[in-house]
Amino acid sequence: MGALELRAGVLIIFAALCWATAGVVDGVTFTEQFTTFSTDGYHVQVAPDGLEAKIVLDQYAASGFGSKNQYLFGNITMKIKLVPGDSAGTVTAYYLSSAQPNHDELDFEFLGNVSGEPYVLQTNIFANGLGGREQRINLWFDPTTEYHSYGVLWNRKQIIFTVDNKPIRLFKNNEDIGIAYPKSKPMGLYASLWNGDSWATQNGWIKTNWTHAPFIVSFKDFSTLDGCVVINNNTSPCTTVTTSHWWEDSAYQIIDRNQAEQLLWVKNNYMVYDYCTDTKRFPTPPVECSRNVPLL
Ligand SMILES: *[C@@H]1O[C@H](CO)[C@@H](O)[C@H](O)[C@H]1NC(C)=O
Ligand SMILES: *[C@@H]1O[C@H](CO)[C@@H](O)[C@H](O)[C@H]1NC(C)=O
Ligand SMILES: *[C@@H]1O[C@H](CO)[C@@H](O)[C@H](O)[C@H]1NC(C)=O
Ligand SMILES: *[C@@H]1O[C@H](CO)[C@@H](O)[C@H](O)[C@H]1NC(C)=O
Repeated sequence: MGALELRAGVLIIFAALCWATAGVVDGVTFTEQFTTFSTDGYHVQVAPDGLEAKIVLDQYAASGFGSKNQYLFGNITMKIKLVPGDSAGTVTAYYLSSAQPNHDELDFEFLGNVSGEPYVLQTNIFANGLGGREQRINLWFDPTTEYHSYGVLWNRKQIIFTVDNKPIRLFKNNEDIGIAYPKSKPMGLYASLWNGDSWATQNGWIKTNWTHAPFIVSFKDFSTLDGCVVINNNTSPCTTVTTSHWWEDSAYQIIDRNQAEQLLWVKNNYMVYDYCTDTKRFPTPPVECSRNVPLL
């Protein structure tokens, strides 16, 4: 047994002792929903009851997992507990992507930090291959001590990014002014944990401190991927509006006053970067920007 195997062996025993009992559940397991990208059984670990999963980052490997299903519209959420302690340099990516040329993608990227300093949540949207729509917020809680839910409500008219069901970002279908919108390409749900220390923490000044590895991010609630599943690449059942696609209901095609207030609360109190106001990159704000802020 080499040093690496021995080290990994000890950590597996340690990690196995750390699974909490999950409480009341509806029993959808990780393996029903996801395939792991780790072949060593270490860098992605699933709890014995299947209700929780962890991605482990160390000097030897980064890893992740992806959904078995591809979705086209829905309310897709999961609970995540981010890397505790020193997470500087690490990036937890959690995103929907069509993984095709000219792809569509909806991103949550959690940028780690040194102990005691805040994580930053960066979101981005790619439509027909065009991204560059980064926004960054601080969170109003410590995302490393407990699970919080992160997701999107995605329909033909708008996409709302949510944190604990609070809207943090709105992206409207602005095809009428020539902006591409994700509405025809099925997307898988992916999660990964990797070393992004060239850019992630304090603009890349703070590097990953590998003496603090392994870095571990945890996931649960695999039943809340409530979207239209595309079967055999046939998208038409998902683009047809039916009552079973509740997320297409008129109530979800607009944001209500309460949601508008929450969006403004996030923008005014927690936003630390917005591509819409980055005049170095965009001397004139991208045309969609004025459409994606709520009016009160
Ligand atoms: C890390 O903490 C520093 C200091 O509080 C802060 O400026 C920065 O935005 C935080 N997040 C990241 C990802 O660098
Ligand atoms: C990395 O962590 C170790 C152990 O906490 C500490 O002694 C060392 O100074 C850290 N390295 C850097 C570059 O901060
Ligand atoms: C979306 O799913 C989450 C998790 O199941 C749920 O709490 C939330 O209420 C759903 N959103 C809507 C608008 O129903
Ligand atoms: C699904 O259909 C799209 C559009 O016709 C095509 O570009 C893509 O390659 C197909 N994917 C698969 C897995 O067959």
